[in-house]
Amino acid sequence: MEFRSIKGTYDVLPNDADRWQRVETHVRGFITRAGYSEIRTPAFEKTELFTLSVGEDSDVVSKEMYSWTDQGGTDLTLKPEYTASVMRSYIQHNLGAQSPLTKLYYLDNLFRRERPQKGRYRQFRQYGIEAIGSPHPEQDAEIIAIAYELLIELGIKDITLKLNSIGSPECRNEYRQALKDFLQPHLDKLSEISRKRFDSNPLRIFDTKIDFEIALLQDAPTITSFLTPDDANHFNEVQTYLEVLGVPFTLDTALVRGLDYYTRTTFEIISGNLGAQDALCGGGRYDKLVETLGGKPTPAVGFAAGLERILIAMNEVDIDQKIQADKIYLIGLGDAVRPTMLKILGEARKAGLNMEFDSLRRSVKSQMREANKIGASLAIILGDKELKDKSVQIKDLKNGQQESISIDSIISYIQGLN
Ligand code: HAM
Repeated sequence: MEFRSIKGTYDVLPNDADRWQRVETHVRGFITRAGYSEIRTPAFEKTELFTLSVGEDSDVVSKEMYSWTDQGGTDLTLKPEYTASVMRSYIQHNLGAQSPLTKLYYLDNLFRRERPQKGRYRQFRQYGIEAIGSPHPEQDAEIIAIAYELLIELGIKDITLKLNSIGSPECRNEYRQALKDFLQPHLDKLSEISRKRFDSNPLRIFDTKIDFEIALLQDAPTITSFLTPDDANHFNEVQTYLEVLGVPFTLDTALVRGLDYYTRTTFEIISGNLGAQDALCGGGRYDKLVETLGGKPTPAVGFAAGLERILIAMNEVDIDQKIQADKIYLIGLGDAVRPTMLKILGEARKAGLNMEFDSLRRSVKSQMREANKIGASLAIILGDKELKDKSVQIKDLKNGQQESISIDSIISYIQGLN
């Protein structure tokens, strides 16, 4: 029997792991500099946590969760998203008592049983941040700016930030009715799934991918005209602050998002390079979730981004040039040079340089081939003659130029190149 990875999952092989690590390190650095601290929660939670937060009739809960009843009779689910789990932990450990504003981030695996395709997997990786405690629009703007700037810093071009406000629950009831009144005459022409949504959660009809329905919805009443004065002020301020922050956005009244906990601001950033699964990240405000889960009323806002999609989008723009640290390959020739070679290697590593060497005792030609294969930008060559002169040849593999420098100056020479 031949075992293979499960449909919708994938192995990260050594060739690719390097890219993953570089992007993840970059993401962590960026978010940490913005003052967010990491939180890690378990891979599975009680199923009810997601039913309550994400919503019983959302696609995620109704179709996509990996759920089971364990030997003790408890209903459990592999986390399909992180926000509910973070809120559970926030309430359980009373994090709000430590500070009126709790700023958290995560980077972890999630599980959704969706139909696999490019950019959509059954185990995928997300990073996200949650700012818990502030109801104010500047907090929404900061979250959105972080989501946007991080993608720009990663070198991803051709992105669009879509922004909407779905208001507070009060105005949404009124809007839901207006939307139903508008759709009622067309009900028999709607798809089965939209007809179901008409009864359970009409706003979700905006998630449709059917051309006829998209065209029909263009004439539907928009949520923005139903916002309460407070909701509308909040939304205007979010837009003003985004302009001040220099973050370009497009208003999209159809952006309702697929998870039930949102209130007021919702946003998504999409990429022009991704095909059907074009959302790189999504988020918004969720002012009622903490109390829904049994905590004190606490406003919050956050987002999450899918790392696979980011890596795909980055491929299109050849990010490697942007954040790859230069690799150096150390080529040794002959038995006598070995101790010196290892000494150079040790010093280079202590200095934080990216140096590799050959432990197979291959020919200079093979070692040079290896240097090129790993994409090294410099080769350092140490043979018997160099050893005698206390020197090395240092070759720039991009332009082929080679020069001799003293062994003692290797580190400062390389550091001087950057
Ligand atoms: P979401 O829109 O469900 O939001 O997911 C956020 C991002 O995760 C998506 O934009 C996409 O890049 C990625 N993603 C989702 N499903 C998959 C999949 N099957 N395969 C690959 N990537 C995927 C949330 O999860 C919310 N918790 C975000 C949030 C945080 N809202 C407030 N705080």
